[in-house]
Amino acid sequence: MTDPGERLRSSLAADQASAPSSAGMADFDSPIAMEALRATRVLHAADQDPFPAPSRIRVITIANQKGGVGKTTSTVNLGVALALYGLRTLVIDLDPQGNASTALGVEHTVGTPSVYDALVGDSSLAEVVHPTTASPKLLCVPATIDLAGAEIELVSVVAREHRLRRAIEAYVHELPPEQRPHYVLIDCPPSLGLLTLNALVAGDEVLIPIQCEYYALEGLGQLLNNIDLVRQHLNPGISVRTILLTMYDGRTKLADQVADEVRNHFGDLVLPAVIPRNVRVSEAPGYGQSVLTYDPGSRGSTSYVEAARQLAERGVDLPPLERTGMAGVSPAPPVAAQHAVSTQESQ
Ligand SMILES: Nc1ncnc2c1ncn2[C@@H]1O[C@H](COP(=O)(O)OP(=O)(O)OP(=O)(O)O)[C@@H](O)[C@H]1O
Ligand SMILES: [Mg+2]
Repeated sequence: MTDPGERLRSSLAADQASAPSSAGMADFDSPIAMEALRATRVLHAADQDPFPAPSRIRVITIANQKGGVGKTTSTVNLGVALALYGLRTLVIDLDPQGNASTALGVEHTVGTPSVYDALVGDSSLAEVVHPTTASPKLLCVPATIDLAGAEIELVSVVAREHRLRRAIEAYVHELPPEQRPHYVLIDCPPSLGLLTLNALVAGDEVLIPIQCEYYALEGLGQLLNNIDLVRQHLNPGISVRTILLTMYDGRTKLADQVADEVRNHFGDLVLPAVIPRNVRVSEAPGYGQSVLTYDPGSRGSTSYVEAARQLAERGVDLPPLERTGMAGVSPAPPVAAQHAVSTQESQ
């Protein structure tokens, strides 16, 4: 048995079985027991505490042209958390590196039907969507290395900035309401090229992950300017709605200074939950997993669950969109809770 989540659950079950009956409740004072308790909470999430569904389909672009700030890690782990807590979620990998596909255990070798085929070719998103092992409620459109050429190939394509938006709108229109995603999360590459532009035109809101390190705010002005330009010329509905602080190291003063600076600058856009620097978060993709399934009781896992909960709570009362392509298309409410991990039946 290699899955740490599975190990934790069975060790918890074994502990409970061997506990003297007079002990009643298990003793949750020790660190390992606390971790096991947190793990079971994450793994049985949807049974206990589903997240509220958004008032409309939420298409969120996760962008920051700075490399390595946690875009992919946040897309994947927020996506898995939303799905484990009952909300149908589609992750679109828009980075030729294919890191989100890797972390979700989705095949993305050359030739795999991928987002490239929908952007540059004639495929519909439905033809390139893949299931994930994390949850039957989580689907992924992978990116293959072919996408690296898309920036150039798209240049001559008509309405090239709108390709992804049109693909998403056609996809949700074709699905019956009970299969429509509540959340679409788009993972951007670390650049402001045509791929990121497609993601900004496709999204209704932007989530910017900011690493709690030196130079965190550097380059952000350029991203915000680009978002303004997209709002003026291509997508009037787009706005930055969420900032997520990532890789926070509580041992350093610097992390607190950066977090304070970001909060002063962006106010309520910054989620109260902060993602700590946590080795389990960085190990998980190597196993084709999110940290929630790899080590559900870790601080990385529980903080992503908390961030996803806050994101979902902010989604219950969103203003309606002018987005005509999605008019009248809303997802059915989440189906009754179901078991989180390793349940393979499709929804
Ligand atoms: N909270 C965390 N704790 C520890 N390591 C982390 C954490 N978040 C991300 N990492 C690691 O930092 C590196 C960069 O993260 P990630 O790939 O998510 O950033 P990115 O913004 O998507 O990068 P790129 O710009 O290359 O697409 C990865 O190796 C990832 O595993
Ligand atoms: Mg990335």
